[in-house]
Formats: sequence, structure tokens, C-alpha cells
Amino acid sequence: MSKYIIRGGTPLRGQITISGAKNAAVAIIPAALLVDGVCRVENVPDISDVDMLFSILRQMGASITDCGSGAFEIDCRGVKTHAATGEAMQKIRASYYLIGALLARCGRADVAMPGGCNFGGPRPIDQHVKGFTAMGAEIDVKNGILTAVTDGGLRGASIFLDGIPSVGATINIMLAAAKADGTTIIENAAREPHIVDLANFLNYMGANIRGAGTNVIRIRGVKNLKGGSYSIISDQIEAGTYMAAAAGTGGRVEIINIIPKHLECISGKLREMGVEVYESGDSSIVVESTRRFRKIDVTAMPYPGFPTDMQPQIAALLCLADGTSTVTDNVFDTRFKYVDELAKMGASIRVTGRTAIIQGLDRLTGAPIRAHDLRAGAALVIAGLCANGTTEVEGVSYIERGYEDIVGKLRSLGADIISVDDGGELSESAAV
Ligand code: EPU
Repeated sequence: MSKYIIRGGTPLRGQITISGAKNAAVAIIPAALLVDGVCRVENVPDISDVDMLFSILRQMGASITDCGSGAFEIDCRGVKTHAATGEAMQKIRASYYLIGALLARCGRADVAMPGGCNFGGPRPIDQHVKGFTAMGAEIDVKNGILTAVTDGGLRGASIFLDGIPSVGATINIMLAAAKADGTTIIENAAREPHIVDLANFLNYMGANIRGAGTNVIRIRGVKNLKGGSYSIISDQIEAGTYMAAAAGTGGRVEIINIIPKHLECISGKLREMGVEVYESGDSSIVVESTRRFRKIDVTAMPYPGFPTDMQPQIAALLCLADGTSTVTDNVFDTRFKYVDELAKMGASIRVTGRTAIIQGLDRLTGAPIRAHDLRAGAALVIAGLCANGTTEVEGVSYIERGYEDIVGKLRSLGADIISVDDGGELSESAAV
């Protein structure tokens, strides 16, 4: 197992290129199962969640060719199974997209229940199941395997998602409905950028999906999807994470290959804290900071609100703000496992219900800490970069699930961070 060793205090400076969006990639890769031909997918991030999905698809009979520079050709014509039950399925959350994709392809799916980041509370999939059931699937879960069976395929249906609009349920139902018989309407659909990206991918391949990006999505099922070429959007959360790191270290970083509109909610909150954020081109922004932060209140909400996937990173910055800030998560109610780790660095935070109350301090001090999930890990890296002294972050496999070469990218901005394995050897990414 690797860990990161960070000597904090260096302002980040320079230019950084953002990779393809993780949460779009993990939906688009299973969507290749719907396509009768070769999909060329570009801007695929080099992260372990993507590796895991590729290995699941290969085990099922798909042929995947690495064309270099983040482009892959995925050909699922050799897939002869409706089952995805291997161990890898339990290691990632997005494996549940195999249910929608296999139902669309075969009218049946036998899929191991998903794993992924553990926020310390349940992550139900009842809204996914409700959608598949409305479309005519019978669902059963036994011994960790979800079986979805239809009588000759899925039928279009009207589905109203309950509660917080679920990203996963919206995507899974879109996948299932793309080749169903008739029209499916998803109401109270999630509106995240990766939902629009999946709809664009499927439409490029011949699907008929309208309304993605609004809260009502209409999917008219088609018989076949053909192959084609598609480039994944850039990662809103990776960009936001580097924005926070630049701000926290009092640096100046130009962040390129971004979609500024997707970052408005993050830029707005950073500006409120006193950070300068300005566009330097159509697809780039500059973040500049003197590291004197005003206290703010942040509430994570579904898009276009402030993303839950950025609340740990902004909480890390607010540990250094002037006064008492609050961070409330209205999407996941238990996403605060990072708080105890920040406390080891001297942070003053307490959690009441869905809200972290953060008393800003002048400094954090380096400490041995552990990442318990992906974004918590990113927050701890940011805290380490801002802190006085040396921070050792364990549990970095979570971070590498969703950040392409985070060590290399931070080092290119001047950060003093290395990745070492158990024996203290520099690991590959730190050596560059
Ligand atoms: N929910 C239900 N029932 C369901 C589905 C969701 O009650 O059937 C609840 C959840 O418990 C949660 C809320 O609805 O309280 C929203 O969950 P959602 O389904 O939107 O989340 P998800 O699909 O499990 C995806 C991302 C997460 C991201 C959330 C919210 C992927 C693979 N995962 O998860 O990404 O936090 O949407 O935007 O796309 C990450 O990238 O670090 C990450 C965790």
C-alpha cells in the first residue's frame, strides 16, 4: 500500500490540465454495451475506477484497445453474457450501471451489488429498482447478487424519482430505457453535467434522449445503437479540487481544459471567501489567493448547487478562515469521516447532524492521517499542502480511484509531495 508524504507550505504556481470526468466515464464505459459496433471514447481519465470497469467488461468478452492519449476503442460485440458477478464489481460504485446496460442489451442482468466509497451510512438503490420495475423487470437480491429479469425486454414507463434527485438512478434508468420498447419519462431527474454527457454519448450513437440537464428526461427507445467517436467532458470536481489547493496554499494556478459554467458554484463560494477566480480563456480559469479567507456558509445540493463531492475540500480550506464557517451536506447525511482526521492536524470542527461547524485557525500542523473515501482523501491532501510540517496520508487507493496522477500534477505546480510504498520506496507516480 502506498502513502503520500507532504511537506506543506509551498504556494502552488503554474498551469494544470484537467482530465476527463470520472463520473461521466464510469457511465459511458458501461453504455458501450448498448452499442452494436466500436465506440472510440476520448479524454478517458487514467484512474483506477476506469481500470476496474475495463477489466469487468473484458471478463465479459469485450475487446478494449488503448489508442494512447486517453483514447480507447471499446467493442462489446463479443459479450455473450448477462452476468457481471466477479470480485471487481464490489470494488466500485458505478458497477451498478451494468444493471441498466445489461437489461437494455439482453433483457436480463445478474450483477453483484456495488461497492465504492463508504461514507459511514447506507447508500440505497431503491430508486434504481423502482425504475427497472416500472419498466417491467422483476428484481430479486440473493447472496449479494441482484437479478433483474424481463419477459422479452423492457417497456417504456413514467418514473418519478423520490427525494433528492439521484444521479445513479437517473443514469441507470437512461441506460435501461435507451433501447426499451416505447418512451420512458424520468421526472425529478438529476441534472449533473455527467448526465448530459451520457445523454450526448448515447444520442451520438443513435439514441433518442431529450431533456438531459433538466429535471424531466424523455427517452424514446430505439432498436439499435451504432458505433462512433465521443470525447468525455472535463472533470468538474478534479478542477474544483485544484482550485481549492491553489487557494489554500496562497498560490496562483491556471486551470485549463475546463467548462467554466460547471465551476460557477465552486468559483462563487471561493470568491465569497476572498479568493480571486477569473476566466483566462473559453476553457481556462485562474485562481489566485493571498490565503486570507473570510468565513462562509456552504450547503451541498444537487447540481447546479454546490457539489457534495467538493464539500470536504472546501471544509479543509475553511479550517484556515477568519471566524466560524458551516458546511452542510444536503445530499449525503454522513459524509464527514474526514473531520476526525483534520482534527489530528489541529482543526477545530464539530459535526451536528448534517452540518460541520468549523472554527477557523491561523494554521494546521502536519500529522499522520488516513483517507476513508475519495473526496475526503482529496481534502486531506489539500490540508497537508496548507499545513506547517509533514503530513502522511494513508488510504491513498481511494484517492487514486478518481484523481489521475494527483502526485505528478501537484508536483508540477511545485508541491512537495511524494508517494511511497510500504517499504519507503518512491512509487512510480512520485518518481516523475
Ligand atoms: N438515494 C436513495 N435511493 C437511491 C439512490 C440514491 O435514497 O436509489 C439517495 C442517496 O442515499 C443520497 C442521494 O439519494 O442521499 C443522492 O445519491 P445519488 O444516487 O445521487 O448518488 P450516487 O449515484 O450513489 C453519484 C456519484 C457520487 C456523487 C453523487 C452525488 C457516481 C459513480 N457517483 O453517486 O460521486 O457524490 O452521485 O452527486 O457517479 C465521488 O465522485 O466522489 C462520488 C461519491
